[in-house]
Amino acid sequence: MAEVLLLGMTHYPLLATTDEHMADLLRMTLQDPGMPESAKDPSTWGQAMQAEWGDDKAVASAAVHRAALLAGFDEVRTALEAFDPDAILVWGDDQYENFREGVIPPYALLAYGDLEAHPWATFPWPNVWGEPTDAAFTVKGRPDIGRWLATKLLEDSFDVAYAYQPLNHPSLAHAFLNTQLFLDYDRIGFRWPLVCMPINCYGRRVIAARGFTRPFGTTLDFDPPSPAPGRLMDLGGAVARHLRASPWRMAIVASSSWSHAFLCDKFWRLYPDIPADRALYDAMVTGDHDRWAAITTAAIEDAGQQELLNWFTLMGAARELGLGPPAWSTFVETHCFNSNKSFAYWEPVGAS
Ligand SMILES: [Fe+2]
Repeated sequence: MAEVLLLGMTHYPLLATTDEHMADLLRMTLQDPGMPESAKDPSTWGQAMQAEWGDDKAVASAAVHRAALLAGFDEVRTALEAFDPDAILVWGDDQYENFREGVIPPYALLAYGDLEAHPWATFPWPNVWGEPTDAAFTVKGRPDIGRWLATKLLEDSFDVAYAYQPLNHPSLAHAFLNTQLFLDYDRIGFRWPLVCMPINCYGRRVIAARGFTRPFGTTLDFDPPSPAPGRLMDLGGAVARHLRASPWRMAIVASSSWSHAFLCDKFWRLYPDIPADRALYDAMVTGDHDRWAAITTAAIEDAGQQELLNWFTLMGAARELGLGPPAWSTFVETHCFNSNKSFAYWEPVGAS
């Protein structure tokens, strides 16, 4: 019977490395010659950030952050195991990985078959599992579901792009690959196929800043924007509506952290926009979808919440399915580890 389960999680790349490296994005920012020396001085930081940085540059606190994230993955994996879907539809960002200058679709359905991925081949840090550089992982696909959903969305006036094979990436962008690797952090096995749906979260920075960041003082030749947050909520609603009426039992995952420090120029890229994230988390846990729907692209960019667009589709799905607050959720706040993270799941919804 068709049922739908909604889930939210992070794909934070630095979780895949050791505690010694988990704050490397902050360390990189502190090397930027365009940043004033005063902003680099930890004694000028707020108390919470100083405490997290500690006297070992956030190595001990990395273990605390990791433990919080693994507890979140445990909850989400348990919900997934209990639901045991036919496949998992994943909303994630493509950070100048598969889609580059050749084409930037606003969102796309990857109707891929099974792929072999080598996540550590180009990973610049040691991986926390101690797996070899050439370690291979199979990511199962369901091209039939991808084709079916693309058809339904096009019939529904959502002009979705689709693809049968990768373009510029050897397998899958990290948002999708890390979804599988982190949901199987204990390496007990991962049996569910992924139907990946990249969203152009990075918008004006996707090519201009290579979906990341450039040194302070660099003049960016901004690209056109992301799809509007409200439109992504509508898209998420349409995906949920069609999957609920489909022949399959589907989990739907929003995969991303929330505000990113490296996108918060207003804070010298030191830490994420915690108040902006807290406001949307409060709206999520009270089932206030209208508050999410009122957010503009300008507000997203100001708060460094570009990747949170993946969760706007999720919130649109919750709204469409008539769901209120999540059955369970948590918010992991941080100053030193680039981004706040949230995990959530809702009660499964039966066939329409
Ligand atoms: Fe990402």
